[in-house]
Amino acid sequence: MLVLARSPYITNQRVTRNQPVQFSHKHHVGDDGIDCRYCHTSVETSAYAGIPPTRTCMNCHSVLFNNVGYLEIVRDSYRTDESIHWVRVHRLADYVFFNHSIHVNKGIGCSTCHGPVNQMPLVYQVAPLNMGWCLDCHRNPQANLRPKDQIFNMDWKAPANQEEVGRQLATEYKLRTTAELTSCSTCHR
Ligand code: HEC
Ligand code: HEC
Ligand code: HEC
Ligand code: HEC
Ligand code: HEC
Repeated sequence: MLVLARSPYITNQRVTRNQPVQFSHKHHVGDDGIDCRYCHTSVETSAYAGIPPTRTCMNCHSVLFNNVGYLEIVRDSYRTDESIHWVRVHRLADYVFFNHSIHVNKGIGCSTCHGPVNQMPLVYQVAPLNMGWCLDCHRNPQANLRPKDQIFNMDWKAPANQEEVGRQLATEYKLRTTAELTSCSTCHR
């Protein structure tokens, strides 16, 4: 049972969802180089990264492939003003408090938690998103801290002297103590 409870099947890791439109991050981000913030506009300023409204897609697709069949749902949604029903990939339990902006502004990059999204034809969950995973980093965030200009870099790798760089960045970002970051009330309020 213990093994089962921790297997990727139970934590939803690596499972892709059937989406109403086959939207590919690999094409849009990896090949076309569109920045995450073009679509996930609130990721630096709010708890939520947000899913883009159809009008964001139409910025390009009102002219690009504007008559192909696989964009029918996108055009319908735009015409009727009814959102596309994207299926959620990541979902924490309601009793857990999470906030994107604090992580992104304190040196944790998207790929540390979401993996190589720029290579995914369909997004899947990479991390287990369980309590142990959060705590592993909250006990020692230094190991994952990046300079601010690397947050959206999907190919970032920790340098050989990460221990030293991480310590410096922790001071620069004025990180709280381990005791505060692992206190129950930080994540359960
Ligand atoms: C052109 C728009 C666009 C860009 C650019 C984009 N995304 Fe997305 N993203 C979407 C849409 C639409 C969805 C919802 C459909 C899906 O899950 O694939 C989504 C979903 C996601 C999800 C899963 C959300 C969930 O349901 O849990 C993650 C994680 C994500 N994007 C990360 C990123 C990252 C990281 C980048 C930059 C490297 C990025 N996205 C760039 C449009 C975009
Ligand atoms: C900044 C311009 C831009 C935006 C915004 C954009 N697309 Fe695209 N889209 C493209 C380009 C360019 C391609 C061709 C991709 C390729 O082949 O590299 C494409 C291709 C596609 C395809 C064909 C399948 C594929 O991935 O090749 C679908 C479906 C699609 N887009 C859906 C969407 C949806 C849904 C949104 C909004 C969430 C969106 N696009 C936003 C530029 C854009
Ligand atoms: C510290 C880990 C972490 C980092 C860093 C992170 N995310 Fe997330 N992301 C999550 C978790 C956890 C969820 C699920 C949140 C929930 O269910 O409330 C999530 C959900 C999402 C979603 C679904 C919509 C939403 O707002 O819940 C999108 C889109 C997304 N992330 C994009 C991004 C992008 C883009 C970046 C980088 C700028 C990023 N994330 C950085 C952990 C992270
Ligand atoms: C890779 C490292 C990393 C992971 C994984 C991570 N965090 Fe964090 N978290 C941080 C850092 C760094 C901070 C900023 C600490 C500070 O400001 O002192 C932070 C801060 C927070 C805060 C404080 C926000 C506030 O406004 O008080 C909460 C809540 C939080 N994280 C929840 C979570 C949850 C829940 C998860 C797992 C789903 C998680 N974190 C996963 C690194 C991480
Ligand atoms: C860094 C964030 C974080 C901190 C700190 C934290 N938790 Fe959690 N906790 C989580 C997450 C994430 C989950 C799993 C949510 C899910 O499965 O969706 C969780 C789940 C739980 C559960 C549900 C049962 C389980 O094990 O899955 C309990 C009970 C719990 N936490 C108690 C605590 C207590 C007591 C503390 C303090 C000693 C604590 N948590 C500190 C993030 C945190």
